[in-house]
Amino acid sequence: MNDSPLPTLSSDQVLALAQNPEFCAQLLALSPVLTAQIKKQTSDLVNSHLQSGADFDGRQVEVDVDEATLNTLFSVIAEQWRHLGATKPHFSVLSIDEWSPANIAAPGKLAEFYNTGVTEVNEFIKLCQRNSVGFGPDTHCLELGCGVGRVTVHLAKLFKKVTGLDISAGNLAEAKRTFLALNVGNAMTRQIESPDEFTKLGAFEVLFSRMVLQHNPPPIQAFILNHLLRQLAPGGIGFFQTITGGGNYRYNIRSHLAQHRVTDFELHALPMNKVLAIIRATGCHLLDVYRDLAGGYNVESYTFLVRKT
Ligand SMILES: C[S@@+](CC[C@H](N)C(=O)[O-])C[C@H]1O[C@@H](n2cnc3c(N)ncnc32)[C@H](O)[C@@H]1O
Repeated sequence: MNDSPLPTLSSDQVLALAQNPEFCAQLLALSPVLTAQIKKQTSDLVNSHLQSGADFDGRQVEVDVDEATLNTLFSVIAEQWRHLGATKPHFSVLSIDEWSPANIAAPGKLAEFYNTGVTEVNEFIKLCQRNSVGFGPDTHCLELGCGVGRVTVHLAKLFKKVTGLDISAGNLAEAKRTFLALNVGNAMTRQIESPDEFTKLGAFEVLFSRMVLQHNPPPIQAFILNHLLRQLAPGGIGFFQTITGGGNYRYNIRSHLAQHRVTDFELHALPMNKVLAIIRATGCHLLDVYRDLAGGYNVESYTFLVRKT
């Protein structure tokens, strides 16, 4: 043990050391005190996150609406995605600076962006495999909220036909451009302009959706999920993600309409008991479910795998 007195450091020197990653890494490796503090903070964070899920009360979330209100809520969401699709389509899909309009224009970035969609499809394949789910050669997959086709181009390799539904004309225009550029001939798009259009989509054997329902207020999420699962073919498979709660999430239609945004998307939750009730009411059963990070770190988000009975 070295008994020499500690050197006196000015507060500027302490600050400089605290911001030096190499010094901090060495200090962490040497200091059981610091390691214990970090472990405690991490475990407090995880505990409070999990507890907030247990404490979440879905009765604070308004889900039932009349038709006129449903249409009004839908037009709010349509306006947000009209704006996002027209101004920053790729960033609206994956909101990190790397995919901003300025950055995605750099050589090679667009291809890199589209490669990220492989992850979602691999998750889907993995979940299907562990539940012994397979698909016939004529399978039609409906992707709810295909955006700019980031995942669609990879789904098109699995299925005979993929239809990408989306609310945003700008995002769909990018998707169509990409299908042409990559010669993806079995993927098509369809813009949804009113809730009623969700009720007459025709036959499909697979429903795929990630990072879409969560951007809609609970009544819209419930309406879409209900109608899509109803139209899923017998024996068909639904793979979808949404946020089911967390934190202090509450939803009241009147306050939402009084202060909704027009230029940016929103994050909403559909309580777990409502999701499960819709699965049952539409003649589906739950095959599997896992918690995911599609909605960020401070919410409860789940991916569901269901089969139409
Ligand atoms: C965050 S992006 C994700 C796109 C795509 N799923 C992906 O992972 O690349 C959400 C997409 O869902 C679309 N969307 C949001 N609400 C929708 C709704 N009610 N009906 C159809 N599309 C919707 C948006 O226009 C947007 O393109």
